[in-house]
Amino acid sequence: MTITLSLAVCLFPDVAVLDFAGPMELLSFISPKILASGLMTYETPYTIEPVYLSVSKEPVVSASGMVIVHNRTYDEVKADEQFDILLVPGGLGTDPEVCPKALLDFLQKQAPNAKYVLAVCTGSEVLAHAGLLAGKRATTNKSSFNRIKEHYAAQKIEWVPKARWVVDGRFWTSSGVTAGADMGYAFLEQLVGHDIANFVRGIVELSIHKEGDDEFAEFYGLV
Ligand SMILES: *[C@@H]1O[C@H](CO)[C@@H](O)[C@H](O)[C@H]1NC(C)=O
Ligand SMILES: *[C@@H]1O[C@H](CO)[C@@H](O)[C@H](O)[C@H]1NC(C)=O
Repeated sequence: MTITLSLAVCLFPDVAVLDFAGPMELLSFISPKILASGLMTYETPYTIEPVYLSVSKEPVVSASGMVIVHNRTYDEVKADEQFDILLVPGGLGTDPEVCPKALLDFLQKQAPNAKYVLAVCTGSEVLAHAGLLAGKRATTNKSSFNRIKEHYAAQKIEWVPKARWVVDGRFWTSSGVTAGADMGYAFLEQLVGHDIANFVRGIVELSIHKEGDDEFAEFYGLV
């Protein structure tokens, strides 16, 4: 029997497109749409049904100017509706000065009972802002690493400087932008096994990085 997991892609104005497009390009290989196409030939124990959410009905204008039409707003999520997986990308819109309250409220409501919470780049800052990383190990955008570390010091988050991504229980966080695809690969492998993940990686021609293969910790003098 195949288990369907719902995945909320948590968008907001000035999101960084590659932060969510990278992991979604990999994870969508086990979505009903791609499975129906016959492109993915392996039996999968899980399918992932993605829904794209944002703060208002207006299309999302990304930091790079791309206009994205999402499925629903955070307000349209029913009170008793629980997503299995949350994916929080980063981007200019995660700055604490502008980060939308609707996004923070949604995460505070959904994260406690989600099976997995994934954040890419400054998406980790949104989780910290929502108070969801207290006492956990995590990583984030290396160019803002020290600022984020200081800003949320009270929460005793163990920020890992040299990591493409970090897993702490249900929480998966990655470094800047492209690291999201590495984390997406590792997450897919953990969820459905090496054969499917490796098949998908072959199709998207992704060069694999391991958790600690992070040249940007040195680049920013963090280690
Ligand atoms: C999201 O919107 C697209 C475009 O209308 C649609 O194809 C897709 O099924 C929607 N997803 C969900 C989960 O409603
Ligand atoms: C990474 O952090 C830097 C410095 O805070 C910021 O300018 C940049 O927008 C961030 N990158 C992304 C994709 O969020």
